[in-house]
Amino acid sequence: MTIKKRKAYEFEIIDLAFGGKGLAKPDGFPVFIDRVLPGDKVLAKVVKKKKNFAEARLIEFIEKSTKREKALCQYASYCGGCKWQELPYETQLEYKKNHVKESLEHIAKLNDIKVNNVKPSENIYQFRNKMEFSCSDKRWLLPSELSNPDIKKDFGLGLHVPGTFDRVIDLERCEIQPELGNQIMNDVRSFIKGSGVPAYGLRSHEGFWRFLMLRHSFYFDKWLVNIVTAKENNELVMKLALELIEKYPQIDSIVNNITSRKAGIAIGEYEKLLVGKPYIKEKLGKFTFKISANSFFQTNTRGAENLYSIVSGYANLTGKERVLDLYSGTGTIPIWLSKDAKEIIGIEIVESAVEDARKNAELNNITNLKFLTGDIKDVLPSLNQADFDKSGNKIDVMIIDPPRAGMHKGVLAEVLKLLPEKIVYVSCNPATLARDLEVLSTKYNILEVQPVDMFPHTFHIESVADLLLKTK
Ligand SMILES: C[S@@+](CC[C@H](N)C(=O)[O-])C[C@H]1O[C@@H](n2cnc3c(N)ncnc32)[C@H](O)[C@@H]1O
Repeated sequence: MTIKKRKAYEFEIIDLAFGGKGLAKPDGFPVFIDRVLPGDKVLAKVVKKKKNFAEARLIEFIEKSTKREKALCQYASYCGGCKWQELPYETQLEYKKNHVKESLEHIAKLNDIKVNNVKPSENIYQFRNKMEFSCSDKRWLLPSELSNPDIKKDFGLGLHVPGTFDRVIDLERCEIQPELGNQIMNDVRSFIKGSGVPAYGLRSHEGFWRFLMLRHSFYFDKWLVNIVTAKENNELVMKLALELIEKYPQIDSIVNNITSRKAGIAIGEYEKLLVGKPYIKEKLGKFTFKISANSFFQTNTRGAENLYSIVSGYANLTGKERVLDLYSGTGTIPIWLSKDAKEIIGIEIVESAVEDARKNAELNNITNLKFLTGDIKDVLPSLNQADFDKSGNKIDVMIIDPPRAGMHKGVLAEVLKLLPEKIVYVSCNPATLARDLEVLSTKYNILEVQPVDMFPHTFHIESVADLLLKTK
């Protein structure tokens, strides 16, 4: 079969590719299709054709896969959040493990690495401790809502439909946040609708209500509500805040972030505290963290504890080591490891994250951590010369937890000059994990890789790799 652009074909989905798309291979030619699962037979139109692959858009299902189970969420087929919800969780984990293994084999030719079974998420629903719901002046209608003339299309509060930046599904529930979040979201929706003040339009750049961001503390079962608006209207947002606080004693904090920026990002140019404290407290293991509306914090609390326990097991610290934590964020890994090391130095580019890291260390009475602000590619070489080599100190263990893009080439080169005895590499992207491990494997043995699931129903997977310096 010769695949041609703009033509529709019947495809049988045989696999899931990294990125979550379904893969068909008519006569061995790879075709990627979104929102389908292995075992589906579909009619799809080819929208992109390259030499080695094509992409097609689903038109209709001819036969649905027998592997599918009924999704808990009524919006699962439309919302971009949980594309794999109809796949049994065990099957999701098998695909995730394969993606890690295949990336190591295909990208880095690392064929004999031990990749363990994925450590599952303890909860596969109600596990997210942070959700960002968008307000829009354009509501996306579900097929079942299309013929209902009573439904108004000029307001929606919920999540975006993939491929549309300005339309949202008006969600009554989101199954991956704790139940109370749904109640708060529905009360905020009723208030906004009754306020007579319009939602912000991402095309018109007019309107007031922009986002509702909810954070939940798993350990203390408390909530932070962040109302993001385009301008100030203290009287109006305070009225909403007072209604919420009266109804929900579980809410510890309500803030108003204000942003007139055109970009659809739920971070304010400035923040006003409406009720309570400007943060909620959360725990990871025995450590307490203060999290404000705009702080970075892992979104699956129990998942983060799983991840850090594996990091700690691989680091195998005895209390004597100097540890360097690259890409240290708000310092959660150094804090987690603090009792087992002599000293830990974290390096992080975002100033507010470093401030949070220092505050969190202080909150937990930890004194053996040092945080440096800056781009690792600039900070590491200066450390290399000034701090470590000349004083004769060395780094025994390095923890590396880069963003999705992986490590900068220059940083990899610096790491290979420092040559710590042990490296624990934490990755949220199997492709860049493979690329970076290929470079590090010139000097290190890769003992094993442990994938950890923090994001059920999505293709995302975290991995922790245990590396030991070769003895020649
Ligand atoms: C995957 S997060 C790791 C966060 C942290 N280890 C944790 O578990 O919460 C990656 C971090 O790297 C930081 N970052 C990205 N590029 C950087 C760079 N060039 N130099 C320093 N930090 C960087 C980001 O701001 C982010 O906090």
